[in-house]
This record gives sequence, structure tokens and C-alpha cells, in this order.
Amino acid sequence: MMSAVTNTFENVKAVILSAHKSTTSRDKVNFYNTWAENYDQDVAVLDYRAPSLAANSISSHFSGDREAAVVLDVACGTGLVAKQMKKHGFGHFVGLDGSKAMLELARETELYRDLKQSMLGEEPLPVQWGLFDVVVIVGALSIGQVPVDVVRDLCKSAKPGGYICMTTRSNRDNLEYKDALERELKQMEEEALWSRVEVTEVEDWERAVSEQEDGYISGSVYLYKKLQQ
Ligand SMILES: C[S@@+](CC[C@H](N)C(=O)[O-])C[C@H]1O[C@@H](n2cnc3c(N)ncnc32)[C@H](O)[C@@H]1O
Repeated sequence: MMSAVTNTFENVKAVILSAHKSTTSRDKVNFYNTWAENYDQDVAVLDYRAPSLAANSISSHFSGDREAAVVLDVACGTGLVAKQMKKHGFGHFVGLDGSKAMLELARETELYRDLKQSMLGEEPLPVQWGLFDVVVIVGALSIGQVPVDVVRDLCKSAKPGGYICMTTRSNRDNLEYKDALERELKQMEEEALWSRVEVTEVEDWERAVSEQEDGYISGSVYLYKKLQQ
């Protein structure tokens, strides 16, 4: 199949701004169903680097057997995180996402051993607890997408000693969400569920699309290690 012509930045901006009309997670997932086919090309136009930033953070701390490690990619979308992690030697991925069309593209990458459709926040993660060496969620912990309390399930899914990597945006419309997320991460540290390994603040996270911002927005990568209980 011939690939579609690459969108201009203005077009991509219009697509993303149209998604802001999605008020519920279900609306948002329906939006991703319509965006799936152009997603990889469009996020490249936005200079979206979150998957490689998360993969770098995991890779610089993970010391186990990468080929044997089982990675849970939550809100996997089309599979950009698995593609990046594969470059660092990881090879066994399980993906979850609410959007059927995004999952179909993830399936076509042939990187995932298993892919499941799941609405995060509405049901517990459809996985066995305590099984995964790495749990990663990129580009989905933000306002209108995955609710903050899902991070508890991310931690439950990891093995004791396993890593949990999460990203969020730090621009204006996501600041309240980011505060709530950071409070929850800290609370879970106080409950001795996990310990903080590193938090990377990134200035040039991705290109800004809102009317109030221009240039690049910033974002963060959080890496935690589940404690042995
Ligand atoms: C920006 S994309 C990120 C995809 C991939 N992780 C990446 O970095 O390219 C967000 C993904 O989260 C999914 N998503 C958003 N909210 C969700 C929810 N509540 N339940 C399940 N999936 C959700 C969307 O379907 C979409 O595939």
C-alpha cells in the first residue's frame, strides 16, 4: 500500500484540537479509532519523542535479561513504544489499548505476543498481577485519557523488583492532572509500594498545538521500581 502524503503541522494541529471536544475517555478512544491510520506520521510531524525518551529511561536502569523480560505496554497505540524498546534489546511485549483500530496497527508490527482491548479506568487491567518485568505507559496519562488511579494497577501488574515507566505532559491544560498524578506517585511511595528511580523533565517534549502556546511544550518521564513485599 502506498503511504499517505505527510500532513502539514497546521493540519495535525487541527486534528489534535478537534480531539479536545472529546469529553469522556470513550469519546477519546473513538477519536483514536479515526486517527489510527495517520497516527504515526502525524506524531512524527509533532516531533513526539515520548516513546524513545521512556525507552531510554528504562534501558539505562534495567539490568536483567532483556530478551527474557516480559514488558506490558499499556495504551500501546500503534506500537511505537515496543519499536523503541526493541532497539534496546527487549523482545517480549504484551499490549493493551481501548482503541480497536490502534490495536490492529500494533498487531501488524508483529512485535506483540498478545494484544487486548481494554478501557483503562473502567475495569481492572486484564492481566495477571505480579507478572511483568517492565510496565510502561506513554502518552496516555493526561487529562481526558487514562485516570490517575490506574497507576495502582500498573504497580500491581509488575513483578517485585520490576520497573514501571510513565510519562505525562507539563503544559497548561494538563497541569492539574500532572499535580494529581505526582501526588498519587508520592502517596504510593509512602505506602512502600514502590520507590522512585528517576524523574526526567524534558523541555522539548513535543510541538505545542494549543492556541495559547507555541514552540515546544515540556513533559516528564517517571521511572519507579516495585518493592519486594
Ligand atoms: C497518544 S496515544 C499513545 C500511544 C503510544 N503509547 C505512543 O506513545 O505512541 C494514546 C493511546 O491511549 C489510548 N487511550 C486513551 N485513553 C484510554 C483509556 N481510557 N482506555 C484505554 N486506552 C486509552 C488511545 O486509544 C491511544 O491509543
